[in-house]
Amino acid sequence: MSADRRFPDGFTWGVATSAYQVEGAWDEDGKGPSIWDTYAHTPGNVRNDDNGDVANDHYHRYVEDVALMRRLNANAYRFSIAWPRIFPDGTGRPNPLGLDFYHRLVDELLDAGIEPFATLYHWDLPQALQDTYGGWQGRETAQAFADYAGYVAGQLGDRVKHYFTINEFASFVEGGYRGVDVPVGGGRTVHLGAAPGLALSDAELKQVRHHAVLGHGLAVQAIRAQAPAGTKVGFAENVRVAVPILDIPEHVRAAEAATRDRNAGFMTVLLEGRYTDEYLASAGGRTPRFTEDELQVIASPLDFVGINVYKPGWYVEPADEPPGYHDIPINASHPKMHSSWHVFDPEVLYWAPRQMQSIWAAESIFITENGCSASDVVADDGRVHDSDRVMFLRACLGQLQRATADGVPVHGYFHWSAQDNFEWMDGFGERFGMIYVDFDTLERTPKLSADWFREAARRNAVV
Ligand code: BGC
Repeated sequence: MSADRRFPDGFTWGVATSAYQVEGAWDEDGKGPSIWDTYAHTPGNVRNDDNGDVANDHYHRYVEDVALMRRLNANAYRFSIAWPRIFPDGTGRPNPLGLDFYHRLVDELLDAGIEPFATLYHWDLPQALQDTYGGWQGRETAQAFADYAGYVAGQLGDRVKHYFTINEFASFVEGGYRGVDVPVGGGRTVHLGAAPGLALSDAELKQVRHHAVLGHGLAVQAIRAQAPAGTKVGFAENVRVAVPILDIPEHVRAAEAATRDRNAGFMTVLLEGRYTDEYLASAGGRTPRFTEDELQVIASPLDFVGINVYKPGWYVEPADEPPGYHDIPINASHPKMHSSWHVFDPEVLYWAPRQMQSIWAAESIFITENGCSASDVVADDGRVHDSDRVMFLRACLGQLQRATADGVPVHGYFHWSAQDNFEWMDGFGERFGMIYVDFDTLERTPKLSADWFREAARRNAVV
């Protein structure tokens, strides 16, 4: 093994899931309904009308699932906590039976030598908050989120040392409150939607974004107040990354400016505590309504930055006229992975963390998600030959290793996903796991990519 393919000592090799996508047990032990229960139970919203009622049944099979993670040599697990298990109505009295599940899961992980990383919001908002406040349209939801986050960190904080407040602001806000068009090459886009399935105006959307980042900031403060000293907290955002056409300083600077501008509603305000002038002027300029105090809360100091990195946002070149760059369209023949939106360019695993450092001086970075779906089937020999996922992993981790070798402070990688699971609007039709799940029998079968990950984690290197 050549030394130049190694990751820094102590690198985190993790796998990731989220509550609604794997847990099932949707109405057990006092859990309240979430907006995803409602959305998936409404015919026509999800492919095949699939839903997460049972999903992977992780709620009952977590012991087996932790053992499988151990076989992958994973030393960390990023899971999310279902808010409506803890507060069935979003606020008010906590539900001890819901919390018990996470106590059991955390104990099992620690016994297996796997560090728990808990995400507090991976999109399954308590339905009651949608009904009462219009979800994140109401500032009250931001406060309710902070109250829940602080409570959970207080209860689990003796054993869970790492928290992500919110997963992918852009996905649930843009997807859920309007629907988002993603470029896939040749001028074509795919439309992605999500619960609660609203279609707000641009101006209204700016206010929703503001409440989401405010919820994050209030939650950071609540966690600091209620968890033991030394607890670490950050977010997990799918930052849209501009990739430079040429790796030369002028292009690199143009790409940095483009990334900062296009992430103004989330990453930029989260890390700078200010909205850019262009962003404030957009969509009529009357929203978001905010105070200077709120901006300070939003930019509360963090212990790390988490980024979910699947694909390049777009490509740019420098330009003489403002804003100093222009977009290069994604070619119709650009390589893709299996999902319709998944443009393939492993270099984004290099540029994404590097830009976190160069634009915002991030000192600790985790890749909180990266992975791909594939047309996986169990072959006659009983194995799942996901050669494309092995290629994807090797290519992406090669670029991530290059970033660490250049001194970018990346401290860990979480593969999406530990297992095939409920892929939102695509139901069980898109498989992202390194472990195959038969959704009739719920039998788990490690894929070829699991062999790759096990060996890479063991050697702490690209293999
Ligand atoms: C989300 C996951 C999702 C994955 C693959 C991310 O946007 O956080 O929940 O399953 O991408 O689409």
